[in-house]
Amino acid sequence: MKSVRVSASKEYEVIIGSGIISSLGERCVSLLGKRRCVIITDSNVAPLWLDKASDSLRQAGIDTLSFIFPAGEDSKSVNTLSDILEFMAENRLTRSDFAVALGGGVTGDITGLSASLYLRGIPFVQVPTTLLAAVDSSVGGKTAVNLSAGKNLMGAFYQPSLVVCDTDTLGTLSPEIFADGMAEVIKYGVIFDRDLFDAVKNGNVNNNIEDIISRCVELKRDIVAEDEFDKGNRQLLNFGHTMAHSIEKLSNFEISHGSAVAIGMVIAAKASEALGWSNENCTDEIVEANKSNNLPCECYFSPEELADAALSDKKRSGGEITFVIPKKIGECILKKIPVDMLKEIAKHK
Ligand code: GLY
Repeated sequence: MKSVRVSASKEYEVIIGSGIISSLGERCVSLLGKRRCVIITDSNVAPLWLDKASDSLRQAGIDTLSFIFPAGEDSKSVNTLSDILEFMAENRLTRSDFAVALGGGVTGDITGLSASLYLRGIPFVQVPTTLLAAVDSSVGGKTAVNLSAGKNLMGAFYQPSLVVCDTDTLGTLSPEIFADGMAEVIKYGVIFDRDLFDAVKNGNVNNNIEDIISRCVELKRDIVAEDEFDKGNRQLLNFGHTMAHSIEKLSNFEISHGSAVAIGMVIAAKASEALGWSNENCTDEIVEANKSNNLPCECYFSPEELADAALSDKKRSGGEITFVIPKKIGECILKKIPVDMLKEIAKHK
């Protein structure tokens, strides 16, 4: 078992290990006391993990309700958010109570936002059940839902009180969903850590997944401690994401976030080399790492489509966007570029 302590506007522990969902109740009681809680989860995760999570909470003396929404990006909406808030209110949750996000990125993001809004804020605990949520979205306090104009346009920074990552949950993921998380792991390697990149580039990760997750969480801890509110270096975590958000949107979310990030990293690396912004060739190694981890590299949308979709991305400010450039594997920088350059970048798809 590994533990990483995050220091942001709130301090909390991220615990990573096999079988630890059974200790969820005890951990919540020792941190938050014997309160009531609502477990928020989706229709894919509920049959697999809801009983284990709620048994653990009930055995520890916590009165537990559950709210299950249909799995999928479509549920990351203002409507689901409103349903969750109404459910909390109908069940008379108070500020002494808390929420548990049991699931992947959508569940964590919508639960965190609900917790931030209900009664102006109740505590919440993240229990990530996908690799993507374990290494990225469950840590750092970004919460959100999508609006018609784009992803994550309505949200808040709201840190969890605890993150309990049971690595056994990864055993129930399809290879595609597991690969989604590997895109974010590869991303951490390219941005910060050559050794991490080398450890995952061949795709043999199952035997050391606990170490890989905890390394990613340590890297995220450091960047969140430095820039919790995403005004500076936290934006490095958006490597590959400018084009990824366009790809997701253009595909009507048929292309998953991880696959889109994998393709977005290749476009960013190719463009950075072509425009003379990189110190060395990163593209070949990123392509290799993607392929070994069952991730795509090819983009079927036109440069015009990619650039237009990127313009509605919330990271655009005025006539400029902040783009993440790989100088070499293990080191990225932020570069402000004029919005007009997006088409030039997208040409390197
Ligand atoms: N997922 C990127 C961030 O947390 O900043």
